[in-house]
Amino acid sequence: MSSATPAAASPDTNPDVVLVVDFGAQYAQLIARRVREARVYSEIVPSTTPVAEMLARNPRAIILSGGPSSVYEEGAPRLDRELFEAGVPVFGMCYGFQLMAETLGGTVDNTGAREYGRTPLHVSRNGSTLFEGTPAEQSVWMSHGDACSAAPEGFAVTASTDVVPVAAFENDEKKLYGVQYHPEVMHSTHGQQILEHFLYRGAGIEPSWTTGNVIEEQVAAIREQVGDRRAICGLSGGVDSAVAAALVQRAIGDQLTCVYVDHGLMRKGETEQVEKDFVAATGVQLKVVDAQERFLNALAGVSDPEEKRKIIGREFIRVFEQAQAEIIAEASGDQPVEFLVQGTLYPDVVESGGGTGTANIKSHHNVGGLPEDLEFKLIEPLRKLFKDEVRMVGQELGLPEEIVQRQPFPGPGLGIRIVGEVTRERLDLLREADAIAREELTAAGLDREIWQCPVVLLADVRSVGVQGDGRTYGHPIVLRPVSSEDAMTADWTRMPYDVLARISTRITNEVKDVNRVVLDVTSKPPGTIEWE
Ligand code: XMP
Repeated sequence: MSSATPAAASPDTNPDVVLVVDFGAQYAQLIARRVREARVYSEIVPSTTPVAEMLARNPRAIILSGGPSSVYEEGAPRLDRELFEAGVPVFGMCYGFQLMAETLGGTVDNTGAREYGRTPLHVSRNGSTLFEGTPAEQSVWMSHGDACSAAPEGFAVTASTDVVPVAAFENDEKKLYGVQYHPEVMHSTHGQQILEHFLYRGAGIEPSWTTGNVIEEQVAAIREQVGDRRAICGLSGGVDSAVAAALVQRAIGDQLTCVYVDHGLMRKGETEQVEKDFVAATGVQLKVVDAQERFLNALAGVSDPEEKRKIIGREFIRVFEQAQAEIIAEASGDQPVEFLVQGTLYPDVVESGGGTGTANIKSHHNVGGLPEDLEFKLIEPLRKLFKDEVRMVGQELGLPEEIVQRQPFPGPGLGIRIVGEVTRERLDLLREADAIAREELTAAGLDREIWQCPVVLLADVRSVGVQGDGRTYGHPIVLRPVSSEDAMTADWTRMPYDVLARISTRITNEVKDVNRVVLDVTSKPPGTIEWE
């Protein structure tokens, strides 16, 4: 099998790309998402990218993100002046704004004029390119130590704050714009409008990008990449692998075989969703491996969370590779199985250093039957998309709502939501409790508001209760509803008491051996989302 790898299918050639230059601190991803919400395609580039390389991509516009540095710091990221002289519209935000000011001859100083958090902004030119149609007073999100006290020559100052004289500037002739604040965050009340004004009015871009184009582009690119060879895809039951598989299935039909490892750690109904609903919706060829016994045996007697994770990961790879070997063997005489489909998303790509999509994945060699030098070429049709866009693509591909809108669920499944040893009985018990909680949350319309709600069985804890006339000695169930943007930080969701009461009553009535339901009221940090 050849190890030469063509680039993964990607809409790199999109003519209307807006580049977001990343100065660090996670602002760039949010900006890129907001640009796409404005129906303009965007990509993130590190601030170390040479300007010539950025310009070589013919971007329709460039946005400079905020970042943690001060323009005065030694080693602070800089930009070549050439960027501002190429005729490409540029929008600087926060650090990007200060860098633009400084590079073009304005004054940025450290006068102690700090602002953090929600700040009133006074717009001095309501009819300006950025601010047209927005109120003269608006609330914006600030986070800066340095401040711009004089705009570069040729720029009009269009907004200020009580502390900062130059909080926004614009140069229509050169198509250069900047704001001291973060228009990308929700707390900046007119942020999205101002970003759209830059894109549509400042840069003259037509909003035309949709996820509908993604399907067409990817289907064509995947067909081209795969030709008449074969591909394989592991389904986890989650959104990403389901959408990636559906997209590849649309492109190459039966040349794709999916594998689903049933490790017995899924929630109630989830395996059936994959086996029946997903197959019905896509017509995908699916090989289901029932590995429940194998996982239970491997997990017997193990309580340590890290050890459980290792065992589940190890068994998963073994079972998956066995299935892979069988599919390859079955295909012998047919076209070779050369491609592995993965549901990698754009944030994974950006966070791992923005690879070019040419990585080969070397299969683990711990299962007999695989050729020693087996290397798969990757098909990663979602590697330019954010999660919400993946859901939209899934919807357009006609996938079941339960799969497309599914909340995050850990790979090791319920195995890490049982504190203590994992047994079949405990899994069944937890599945019942979890199904009740999910049912009530859905009925109360809380699925969108809640990021996820782990339901946890404290299998090693028992406490006394009373039910009917008798004393009980049962296990507690923990409810862990959290609100979050990205799971890096989270807060416990202030859920309505009546919903909590219904869940509690139903679980203690309907689930044998559970006599208490408790609510986790810890944010992350210090707690994690999952209990393990
Ligand atoms: P924690 O518990 O670290 O979880 O706050 C953060 C997010 O990650 C999910 N999670 C996992 N997802 N494999 C996954 O695919 C895992 O092993 C795993 N562990 C935690 C968790 O559900 C939450 O969304």
